Amino acid sequence: PDGSIEIPVVVNVLYRTTAQNISLAQIQSQIDILEEDYNAGNSEYGSVPALFSGVKASVGIHFSLKNVVRKYSNKTSWSAVTENMKSTAQGGLDPTTPDSVLNIWVVNYINYGGSEVLGYAQFPGGDPDTDGVVIGYRYFGNTGTVVSPFNLGRTATHEVGHYLNLRHIWGDATCGNDFVGDTPQHNTYNFGCPSYPHYSTCSGSPVEMTMNYMDYTDDACMYMFTAGQRDRMLATFTSGGGREGF
Ligand code: ARG
Ligand code: ZN
Ligand code: CA
Repeated sequence: PDGSIEIPVVVNVLYRTTAQNISLAQIQSQIDILEEDYNAGNSEYGSVPALFSGVKASVGIHFSLKNVVRKYSNKTSWSAVTENMKSTAQGGLDPTTPDSVLNIWVVNYINYGGSEVLGYAQFPGGDPDTDGVVIGYRYFGNTGTVVSPFNLGRTATHEVGHYLNLRHIWGDATCGNDFVGDTPQHNTYNFGCPSYPHYSTCSGSPVEMTMNYMDYTDDACMYMFTAGQRDRMLATFTSGGGREGF
């Protein structure tokens, strides 16, 4: 792939209150943010520290809104384990042609182990019936019902990274491996908005790339992918990569 990939997006909105039935403007704002963040079009791209300017990258994947599907539900919470939001028979909505469409479900609350998560994604190669990304309505797009500090649409940017096979930058372990060569080792996740430079205590004490979309920092403080992450994502569109349907 040469970076000319187009991803049609279907947004499945499950709402109980009218506020949760988010506006088309809010939905489109999220598509626009994905388009910017995956194409070095975000306003912060030029603010990437010089230490990382050689590895920052435009991924070259484009996003377009194909359809919005809306459905009322009396549920106040949706489980990330049972995944009923992805099943019409269970009160949710079945995905639309998941081999060739990115399905996003926007729900009122995602329960995982008794706590809320902002969003989650299925990696490539999984069950088509549950393929896609789920995001809470307060963390989707940058207008309408969004709540600071997750009000700039970066939850979707992060989750689509997982959907395209990216791991967390800390490798989900202390000084873990994210299978990307040009991202530094991180001790663990970072929250908030770390001041630069933030040093890792992993081997060699590298400066952590806290502004990477695959960390856990606030939306305003994550604004880059690397070339290695780009290559790992683009590999999913090749034969056997799990996203070859696009
Ligand atoms: N997967 C993370 C979660 O479980 C989402 C982190 C998104 N971070 C952000 N700044 N929007 O909640
Ligand atoms: Zn994540
Ligand atoms: Ca790495």
